Amino acid sequence: NWSFNDGVARLSRRSPVTGEVAGERTGSELEFVRELGGLLLMHKFAVDELLTKLRIWSEEFDYAHEHDPIEHIASRIKRPESIMQKLRRKGLPVTLASARDHLTDIAGVRVVCPFVSDVYLIRDLIRRNGMEIVQTKDYIAEPKPNGYRSLHLLIRVPVHLSDRVEKVTAEIQLRTIAMDFWAAVERKIFDKSGGAPRPEFSGELKAAADAAADLDARMKGLHELKALAREVVPD
Ligand code: GTP
Ligand code: MG
Repeated sequence: NWSFNDGVARLSRRSPVTGEVAGERTGSELEFVRELGGLLLMHKFAVDELLTKLRIWSEEFDYAHEHDPIEHIASRIKRPESIMQKLRRKGLPVTLASARDHLTDIAGVRVVCPFVSDVYLIRDLIRRNGMEIVQTKDYIAEPKPNGYRSLHLLIRVPVHLSDRVEKVTAEIQLRTIAMDFWAAVERKIFDKSGGAPRPEFSGELKAAADAAADLDARMKGLHELKALAREVVPD
């Protein structure tokens, strides 16, 4: 029962002491959040289209090539609060048009791959399958100063509605398991609000990122050795 659940959610945000609702929004902001619904839905559709393609490729490669290039996939739609925060942070008006025109990461998909070569394989599959890549940031070829590695793509995903096709921008982050491990833990230690890590930490952080890259290189070596062994002694 949805209305019951909704009621519980609202009750739990109301202070039993003052009667105030936690984080209650002002009138215009509330209107903005309502308008945002349609835009968020379009971005959810884009994520759905993308996830379906990625899952098909994952199963197809597992079946046809005995190597699944995708370890796991995560996705998220940016929350209205984060959209407002980002618009304010960038000094942009907090309007629907400004969110639509300036924010490219409302739809986000992260693809984690076993090997670095899989990252570029998925990039190629995206390009060859009707999704235009409008921006590439290759932090694998050129890691960020803190050591962050990943391939970031902005793509235009065709969303097939009942009466038209809309192209929706989505951000894809592709990385290996080792890169994902580093990024996930780094984010836990130095979240965005904390600003840049103190200089005394940054050397160690970078060294940890290099160790992750070294792991990737060693796993690649093992993978190649196994392929070679198979050629010599087919199993
Ligand atoms: P934003 O305003 O955050 O979108 O900056 P940008 O457009 O310059 O983004 P960039 O492509 O560099 O990074 C976008 C996303 O990549 C971030 O929101 C994170 O999810 C991820 N990311 C980028 N740099 C780092 C990093 O140093 N550490 C971790 N853990 N994640 C990062
Ligand atoms: Mg960005």
